Order: sequence, then structure tokens, then C-alpha cells
Amino acid sequence: MNKVLLVERLVPNLYRLVVEAPEVAASARAGQFVMVIPDERGERIPLNLADWDKEKGTVDLVFLNLGVSTRKLANLKPGAMVEGIAGPLGRAPEIPAAAEVLLVGGCYGPGGLYPLARELKQAGGRVIFLAEARGPAYLYWQEKLKKFSQVFLTVFRSDCLGPAHELRELIRKIKGENPDLSLVLVMGCSYLLFKVSEATADIQLKTLVSLNPIMVDGTGMCGACRVSVGGKTYFACVDGPWFDGHGLDWKEYFNRRKAFLSQEEQALIRLDREFWKKME
Ligand SMILES: Cc1cc2nc3c(=O)[nH]c(=O)nc-3n(C[C@H](O)[C@H](O)[C@H](O)COP(=O)(O)OP(=O)(O)OC[C@H]3O[C@@H](n4cnc5c(N)ncnc54)[C@H](O)[C@@H]3O)c2cc1C
Ligand code: FES
Repeated sequence: MNKVLLVERLVPNLYRLVVEAPEVAASARAGQFVMVIPDERGERIPLNLADWDKEKGTVDLVFLNLGVSTRKLANLKPGAMVEGIAGPLGRAPEIPAAAEVLLVGGCYGPGGLYPLARELKQAGGRVIFLAEARGPAYLYWQEKLKKFSQVFLTVFRSDCLGPAHELRELIRKIKGENPDLSLVLVMGCSYLLFKVSEATADIQLKTLVSLNPIMVDGTGMCGACRVSVGGKTYFACVDGPWFDGHGLDWKEYFNRRKAFLSQEEQALIRLDREFWKKME
């Protein structure tokens, strides 16, 4: 069991959870994730490490309040316990020393990319950060991110996920203004990962995406997180979550993510019913 120290609403739909997890904090690396079990009846859900403090033995997670498990986490109070946190899991992305890197984060992405921005800057790299959000009210951690980014840009959903050419033009412009830019890392909703990969493929700019397939055990045993990249099969929990956005079989990836949609809807309806019963 892990003690909750803070649950903070960052923007309307995103929360920060600070929780005691000394073993995770001791060996965390930027770009890794943990599996969180909210309560004794809960499933395991993967969340990226958004920060950690080795001395205090704590980790920070930033999450979108989406379904049953994340709703349970959003409702926790300081002093409460989460059933378990396993990790750190996954492989940190391989980034050449002193590289010039574009980090693109939407939704929970700016949180999960924060440790990468810090690590890159501290290793002598150059960070261009592009924060994507539904609108200005959905941006968070701007000051924290600016501290480790030479260039900080924002783009809003209507521009970014609208007509494909707009994101393409933006990426081309960023590359034009930063000719040494050699790598793009993207974290956030699957559609953003796809759109950025599509845009960077045109100009052959290497792109690693932090995939978020369904995960069950997080240990490479169940096969739930299987993805195909460059014609080869990988398990995102042990081989990823970072993969080449230009080699991924996106069609298969999107289809597999939808596999439990009706069960997820039913679980949310059940949770709502339980809530209203308690209120009666
Ligand atoms: C490596 C990795 C890192 C992630 N990091 C973050 C993060 O830092 N912050 C964040 O908000 N979200 C993150 N996600 C997504 C997060 O795990 C899902 O949003 C969460 O599991 C939803 O659970 P739920 O019960 O609240 O919603 P549900 O109603 O169960 O599901 C809503 C949607 O979330 C996805 N999902 C559901 N269960 C899982 C699961 N076990 N594994 C993966 N996706 C699932 C499905 O697409 C589903 O349609 C990450 C996913 C992966 C694979
Ligand atoms: S989550 Fe089971 S193999 Fe990856």
C-alpha cells in the first residue's frame, strides 16, 4: 500500500497525484511508467512518472480523469492509501548526448515529458517544447517546463488536430528555425501521436511516440499491449512504451485500443450507480 500525500487538480480534467513509493523513486528514469492499483477492487492502470524525489521517497503522476480507475484516483484525499504501485517499468527512450530534441506533449504528456526535458537540458541537450491542449485553460506546468526548454511553444487542438496541413506546417516551421533538430518525442493522446508521426514522416525527422495501448499485467506475460513496429511484434510494457512512430502499424494499434470500450462504459455506469446509491 502507498500513502497519498497530495491530489491536486491542475486544469479541469487533469490531476497531479503525489504518493509515497520509495522503491520506485530510487530507480526511476525519465520516460518510464508505473502500474497503479487504486483500491482492493481495482484494475492495474499504467501512468507515466511525471516526477520523483529520491530523498523523500515520493513520485508524482499526472493523469486524465477518464474512467473508473482514474476517477477513483481523483477522489483520493491526502492520507488515503492506494492499493499498490509497481515499477518503474518500461525502457527509457534512447537519446543521443547533447541532442536537439522537440518534445510534443498533449493531455497528460507535458507531465510525463517533464523529467525528460530536465534530463535532456542537464545533459547539455537543447529542448524545444510544444505543449498541445484543448485551449489555454488546459495548459499546465508551463513555468516548470520553460525552466528546462530553450524554446517553449503552445498549440491548441483546433489548430493541431484540425486539417492535417496545419500541424505539418508547424512542424516544418519548427524544423526550419531549428535546423539541428534531430529527434521528436511525443506523449499524450493516441491521435496526437499519430498526427505528429504523420507530419514528421514527410520530412524524415526521427520520431519516438510513447504508446498507450491497453496494459493488464505490465510484465510482458499477458500480451494485451502487443504492437507491431516495422513488421515485428513487441510488447509495449517491456519493449516500450517508446517506439518509432514511422514504423508502427497504426491501424492495428487503434483497433486493439478499442477492444474493451463497451466493458469500460459499463464499469463507469456501475460506478455512477454506486455513487448515487450512497447519496440516497
Ligand atoms: C505506458 C502508459 C503510460 C500512460 N501514462 C498515462 C499518464 O501518465 N496519465 C494518464 O492520464 N494516462 C496514462 N495512460 C493511459 C491510462 O493508463 C488510461 O487512461 C487509464 O488506464 C484509464 O483507466 P480508467 O479506468 O480511468 O478508464 P477506462 O474507462 O477503463 O478506460 C478509458 C480508456 O483508457 C484506456 N485504458 C483503459 N484501461 C487501460 C489500461 N489498463 N492500460 C492502458 N490503457 C487503458 C482505453 O483506451 C480506454 O478506452 C498511460 C497508458 C500507458 C500504456
Ligand atoms: S501488459 Fe501484459 S504483456 Fe504488456
